[in-house]
Amino acid sequence: MSVRFADLPRRLVSLTIDGRAVRVPEGTTLLEACRQEGIDTPTLCYVETLTPVNVCRVCVVEVEGARALVPACSRRAEAGMVVHTDSERVRLSRRMVLELLASSVDLSLAAPEVRAWMQRYGADASRMGPAAAPDGHHRDQAHPGHHRVGDGARAETVAQPVKVDNENYVRDYSRCILCYKCVGACGTDAQNTFAIAVAGRGFEARISTEHAVPLPDSACVYCGNCIAVCPTGALMFRSEHEMRQAGTWDESRQTVTTTICPYCGVGCNLELHVQDNTIVKVTSPLDHDVTRGNLCVKGRFGFEFVQRRTREG
Ligand code: SF4
Ligand code: SF4
Ligand code: FES
Repeated sequence: MSVRFADLPRRLVSLTIDGRAVRVPEGTTLLEACRQEGIDTPTLCYVETLTPVNVCRVCVVEVEGARALVPACSRRAEAGMVVHTDSERVRLSRRMVLELLASSVDLSLAAPEVRAWMQRYGADASRMGPAAAPDGHHRDQAHPGHHRVGDGARAETVAQPVKVDNENYVRDYSRCILCYKCVGACGTDAQNTFAIAVAGRGFEARISTEHAVPLPDSACVYCGNCIAVCPTGALMFRSEHEMRQAGTWDESRQTVTTTICPYCGVGCNLELHVQDNTIVKVTSPLDHDVTRGNLCVKGRFGFEFVQRRTREG
């Protein structure tokens, strides 16, 4: 039998954020301190259920005395820190990150906050030039050191065909901002399957299965935990993808019902998204202290039997 000890009380540290005196428990990140103060801080690669990887840099803040801007999502608050979250330097950096992403990636299905942040920081992707046309360049075959140099007049693009290779979910890497969340969810943060990782370098970096094999030939177990954390719609239920293609996906007509997964005794929470009396996708609440948004293939995708329908019927 394992023994659990209650957390020891943590000392409080005092710091200043945007001129306000703030006290937070030792170990608190600057992002958590900002949230405690109601300061909205953009994040793309951070989610509470995964280990911070600090790759998007959209959360950066300025710490007096520090040479470089620091990522709020992973930098811990220290006694006496003086932090600025809305200085010219911070705004410029956040704008640049958002502009570079928006110039090369299709963000049209990104979380609504992303568009709000773009507005807030005046991010204008067209400053990078008109988008280059997709040229059939095979990103999956790119090797480190073989970067294709653009003409400099057009914004490079990650546009590529959607990968539809299984019944459960599709991968549209034209929408991928390389936030690594799916890699974390597939790896040690949740699933420990390691079916996907980042391949390539620089602009050719991309999320890939081993040797870019189709998902059915990879180690993927279709838990869908990667879809649950993807912030841009790059990973999407096949049901949603097909409804969007047909123009029938309509979230304003969907209800979400929380229930318990019937498949085993763990009893995971399921959120059934229903449109026109049909379950169109299944999620799980991130704030559940047992499952933390994660499910297995049965809970995530085993819903078609409910209406005894098949894809064909
Ligand atoms: S569905 Fe699960 S196993 Fe497959 S890639 Fe996503 S997280 Fe990994
Ligand atoms: S597929 Fe989604 S979760 Fe994975 S890196 Fe791309 S945007 Fe992030
Ligand atoms: S949210 Fe902090 S680096 Fe991405």
